[in-house]
Amino acid sequence: MPKPSDSRPGESAKPPKRALRVLSGTKPTGENLHLGNYFGALRQFVQLQDEHDTALYFIADYHSMTTVRNAEERRRNTLAVALDYLAAGLDPERAILFRQSDLPEVTELTWILTTVTPMGMLERAHAYKAAMDKGEDVDHGLFTYPVLMAADILLYGSHLVPVGRDQKQHIEMARDMAQRFNRIYETDALVLPEPYILEASATVVGTDGRKMSKSYGNTISMFAPKGRIKKAVMGIVTDSTPVEDPKDTSQAVFELWSLFATEAERAEMFARAEAGGLGYGEVKKDLLARLMDHFEPMRARRAELEEKPEEIEAILRRGAERARALATPVLEACREAAGLGVPRR
Ligand code: ADP
Ligand code: TRP
Repeated sequence: MPKPSDSRPGESAKPPKRALRVLSGTKPTGENLHLGNYFGALRQFVQLQDEHDTALYFIADYHSMTTVRNAEERRRNTLAVALDYLAAGLDPERAILFRQSDLPEVTELTWILTTVTPMGMLERAHAYKAAMDKGEDVDHGLFTYPVLMAADILLYGSHLVPVGRDQKQHIEMARDMAQRFNRIYETDALVLPEPYILEASATVVGTDGRKMSKSYGNTISMFAPKGRIKKAVMGIVTDSTPVEDPKDTSQAVFELWSLFATEAERAEMFARAEAGGLGYGEVKKDLLARLMDHFEPMRARRAELEEKPEEIEAILRRGAERARALATPVLEACREAAGLGVPRR
């Protein structure tokens, strides 16, 4: 296994072409994927599967238990994420696609990691703090969420974790837990992971100018019916500058449009905006056309795959076997280091 790296190349450093293990996961919460999920995470998943020897992408169904409380709903949502993955271009030949709960080993590593995780670390976690601030009933699952996430990452000896910026804190926690475990048990069983965050799309803006997020209701979905996407695009908040006046190009509408444009097109559009005479309606219409074009092939592929749930199931099972082959030696090394189970010697 490659040695863990102690260097931190910086969050947007391009990874060298090495035999690194890439891993990421998505919670099956039932919403259609939105542009934030795609540009912040999924697109990098696809790119990294080609650049690295081993890429693992899973569906975090254990994680969804903190919010989804119905078995059928979870099964449906899990299949939906698998479809999104495959439609977006993840290739089961090149990447290992699997369902988190097909490897219950991850819950054993979660327990092991909880014993080296200070309460204070978890109390500082954004998701937990946000739920507390809102006065929500917080269960232990939500509190421990970052430990399960760390186990996801560490179980497979992952080096790089492609995510949007909001997940960075979780990866730092995973790194911290790995370091503590390795130090306490004098081992190098756990690899220290790095976040992989693309500066340009670290935070995709929503239709209201805040971060695009399901919880803000400001999303533009990839695969929703065209009418719904159109409604969201036309609803992007703009200022009230008259058509003939110069426009402020830092607004959400320009940021979102730029996601679908080349550098040259962007320069041209921004020059027109700054010169005045460009209406927001025109930008929105063009954004809608580009967006529909961009996702059309994926939408078609998704519709095709939707007809073949058994094939998806077979892909996930095969993925789980391959994931297990990577997980077993790591978990055994942890058990051995901590003196758990039948002694090897
Ligand atoms: P949401 O915030 O809508 O609930 P999730 O937490 O399910 O989204 O995020 C799934 C993945 O998509 C994560 O890697 C997350 O970092 C990324 N992501 C979500 N929203 C954005 C955004 N607005 N910009 C960039 N990345 C995002
Ligand atoms: N917490 C992540 C999210 O909300 C999902 C996730 C679970 C994950 N386990 C992971 C992401 C491991 C990367 C690595 O988006």
